[in-house]
Amino acid sequence: MAYVIVFTNLKGGVGKTSDTDMMSLVASQIFHKKVLLIDVDLQANSTQNMSRTFNNVEYPQSFTNAVMEGSLKRAIVSLSSNLDFIAGSAGTHDLNEWILDHSKNKKGRYLFFKNMIEELQDGYDYIFFDVAPSTDNTVDAIMMCCDYIIPVQEVKRFSMDGTASLISNYLTPMVEAFPEEAHFQVAGVLPAIFQNRKRQQQINYEETVERYGQDNVFFTIIKRLERLDRFGEHGITLNDYQDRKIWAIFADLLLELEARITSFEQTGDILDFKFKPIYYDIENNKELAASKEIKLNGIDQ
Ligand SMILES: Nc1ncnc2c1ncn2[C@@H]1O[C@H](COP(=O)(O)OP(=O)(O)OP(=O)(O)O)[C@@H](O)[C@H]1O
Ligand SMILES: [Mg+2]
Repeated sequence: MAYVIVFTNLKGGVGKTSDTDMMSLVASQIFHKKVLLIDVDLQANSTQNMSRTFNNVEYPQSFTNAVMEGSLKRAIVSLSSNLDFIAGSAGTHDLNEWILDHSKNKKGRYLFFKNMIEELQDGYDYIFFDVAPSTDNTVDAIMMCCDYIIPVQEVKRFSMDGTASLISNYLTPMVEAFPEEAHFQVAGVLPAIFQNRKRQQQINYEETVERYGQDNVFFTIIKRLERLDRFGEHGITLNDYQDRKIWAIFADLLLELEARITSFEQTGDILDFKFKPIYYDIENNKELAASKEIKLNGIDQ
C-alpha cells in the first residue's frame, strides 16, 4: 500500500513543487520505489517540469477530467520504469465547484477523492501530490487522502506564518471535525531555500526548532541551491557533480522521511529522533560515500 504524501504550505513559492518533483525522481530512480506523482495545482508547474525532464511525454488526460469521469486510472502516464504521473491543468480551477455540486455535505466534499486514490494505492510505494498554496475543496480533499504532510517552510517570516497557520488554522480543525477520517500526520517541518549565512534566516531557523521541537523539524535542510533553481528552468538532470549533489540531498531527505514514518508506525510519535545523512553532509557541503554510487548517467527515460 502506497504512502500518500504531500509537501505543502499556505505560502506560495517556497519550493513545494521543486521538492516534490525531486523526491519523486529520487524515490523512483535511486531507490527503485514505485511512485505516482499527481499534479493537482492549476499552475501545472510539476507537469511542465516533467515535460522538460522526460522525452516526448503525452498526457492522456488531466487530473480534473479524470476526476470528473470518476477514475484516475486512464490519466496515468508512465515517465520511466518506476515513475508514473498524472498531469495538472488550468481546469483544476473548475474542480472546486464540481466537488461542491457533487457532494451531499462537508464530509462528502472532504472524502471526495478517497475511493479514487484508494483504488491506486496497491500499485505504488509512494503517491506524491503537488498542490497549490490554497485551501479550496480540491486541496481539502487531497489532505484527507494523505498519510503524511510535510510543511515546506522557507526560513522567512511570511513562510513561517504560513506553516503556523497551516497547522493551527487548517489541519487541526480538519482533524477535530473528522477525527475518524483525517488520518494524516505531520511528518516534520522542512526548512527550505535556506540561506544559512544570512543572520536573520539563522535566527528564524532556530526559532522554528524551538517552536516545533527538533523532533518535528527535518534534519535534512534544503538550502538555497542554484542548481535546483536551474532544474526549474530546464528540467531535472543527472549529468554532472552539481546535479548529483541535489540528488544526494534529496536521497537523504527520502531516507529521513522513511525513518520518521517508521518511528510514527512503531511508537505513534516521534521522540528523540536522530538522523545521520549518508549521501550528503549539508553542514560542511561535502559529498558522503553513498553519493558516489549515484551514477551520472542522466535520467532513466
Ligand atoms: N532550494 C532552492 N534553491 C533555489 N531556488 C529554489 C529552491 N527551491 C525552489 N526554488 C525556486 O523557487 C521558485 C519557486 O519554487 P517552487 O515553484 O518549487 O515553489 P512552490 O512552493 O511550488 O510555488 P507555488 O506556491 O507557486 O506552487 C522556483 O523558481 C524554483 O526554481
Ligand atoms: Mg508549486
